[in-house]
Amino acid sequence: MRSAPVASAITAVLFAAQPGAAQESGAGERLFATCQACHSLDPAKPGMAGPHLAGLSGRRIGTATGFDYSPALKAAGAQGLSWDAERLKAYLADPEAMFKGSWMSAPGLAREADRAAVADFLMRPR
Ligand code: HEC
Repeated sequence: MRSAPVASAITAVLFAAQPGAAQESGAGERLFATCQACHSLDPAKPGMAGPHLAGLSGRRIGTATGFDYSPALKAAGAQGLSWDAERLKAYLADPEAMFKGSWMSAPGLAREADRAAVADFLMRPR
């Protein structure tokens, strides 16, 4: 039985992840306050420095209506890339490293747990 250790490892991960995920959701919302200087969750809110982040899960990169993106993000979208939790966490770790020439001047989030919490919050359907 080679699959048994794998299955129990997966179970352990699932059990470990659930309570954490519940706690993180409040943290993600609080951390998002730092993003709201430039990003809204309301697609209709005008005058923000960054694109709105409503419905980010599965949204193609660089395609929020009414926002003029950098060539770097437009190119990523033109390649068909879209946002999921993993990509968002990597972007927030170092926006410039992921999309060279990204106009997001904010440094992202230094702590891995913070990136995970914000990604969890932003990937929820809204
Ligand atoms: C100082 C302003 C500023 C802050 C603060 C900021 N961003 Fe951004 N963000 C931008 C700009 C400007 C862009 C567009 C980048 C481009 O066109 O290259 C962007 C782009 C993005 C995108 C890509 C959206 C898309 O439609 O493809 C995501 C996702 C994002 N930011 C998430 C965040 C998160 C999460 C935070 C908080 C941890 C944050 N940003 C903080 C300015 C900011």
